Amino acid sequence: MSPTSRLPGFYKLTPDERAARIGEVLGLSPEDLATLTPDGGLQIAQADTMTENVIGVYGLPLGIATNLTVNGRDVLVPMAVEEPSVVAGLSYAARLVRAGGGFHAQADAPVMIGQMQILEVSDPAAARTRLLAARAELLARANAIDPVIVGLGGGARDIEVRVIPQSSAGPMLVLHLLYDTRDAMGANAVNTAVEALAPEVERISGGRVGLRILSNLADRRLARAWGVVPKEELALEGLTGDEGVQRIIEAYAFAAVDPYRAATHNKGIMNGIDAVAIATGNDWRALEAGAHSYAAQSGRYAPLTTWERDAAGNLIGSIELPLAVGTVGGATKAHPQARVALRILGVGSARALAEILAAVGLAQNLAALRALAMEGIQRGHMALHARQVAMAAGATGDLVERVAARLVAEGVIRLDRAAAILAEYGAS
Ligand code: MEV
Repeated sequence: MSPTSRLPGFYKLTPDERAARIGEVLGLSPEDLATLTPDGGLQIAQADTMTENVIGVYGLPLGIATNLTVNGRDVLVPMAVEEPSVVAGLSYAARLVRAGGGFHAQADAPVMIGQMQILEVSDPAAARTRLLAARAELLARANAIDPVIVGLGGGARDIEVRVIPQSSAGPMLVLHLLYDTRDAMGANAVNTAVEALAPEVERISGGRVGLRILSNLADRRLARAWGVVPKEELALEGLTGDEGVQRIIEAYAFAAVDPYRAATHNKGIMNGIDAVAIATGNDWRALEAGAHSYAAQSGRYAPLTTWERDAAGNLIGSIELPLAVGTVGGATKAHPQARVALRILGVGSARALAEILAAVGLAQNLAALRALAMEGIQRGHMALHARQVAMAAGATGDLVERVAARLVAEGVIRLDRAAAILAEYGAS
């Protein structure tokens, strides 16, 4: 049985207490926990090997979202994010879906697309046919480059060739190498393979190979998640459950008809996905590029989630998007905190990570839509802000919540007011 992700009262603990609790629940070692402290993370010497002209190491808050269950397994979710309400929002929405049996998720095989641009081809249609006829030879060549990934069951899977009759640079062919990168995000493996194939592709096509690079529109590597929220869970803010479901469906409908709203809707989804991607050392820019290009694939920018009502009146949500993530390679292993984050998630494969990320994106979207459609987004932000102000005024322990609750109730979230309330409690 997996450890529970239900940790009531977790938010009331201090950061040290929370880390200890996570360590206890997941059986993390004292070294793992030490890695999560500001001094225990990425060291300057390691940072210096990761990028250029390094002068320091940049920190972000690392929070744990609770309550998530994916495919019957409870998951505690590490999130590196500076924005208030993201961690709380995920925990809240995960609890709503938990009441409906949790998230179900499924990810495709980790197949990436490597692109080759072929220019100056005299007869593009004939060149395309020759390239397709040489499929076996091209795949064999690509597979000879990285025996390790082939040994792990990955490697080149197929080629596709499109003729682009007209562009500002004349006609071109675009060759796609489909390449299974196993548990790596795979940029290095794919880029190496397409670069190595270039001379052979030039010989067969009679053209000149221009760019050779992976595509971030990783639409062979989709992940999807879905879940049900029993309507009773949405009887909130004085609404009936039916009305609550209706509010979420209306909020989704707005995104479905309007790209201005869809952009913000999808931004909310990526709030969660990026935070986990950063915590686990994954390339969140690649995920952003994949998500937004996939959202526009129909020719009209659309929301990545859908929200509907089932026959019993419950809310059903689903999401589908490319999720090119890895659990090996790059910063996932080089960054000490990313290693611990992967341990916290308990994932052993890129596909398992993609499934959790899809569920995270869907839950994050639900949290945003619920807040927006019921109370507005500011109230949740205010609660967190009020706790920060209460602490800044000197509140500790239980007083943090008591002072924050008073500040929120009064609608005045100021340091001087927090200090006055503290004085009332005789604790200033
Ligand atoms: C803010 O970071 C994200 C939201 O704007 C998402 C949304 O509007 O759906 C709240």
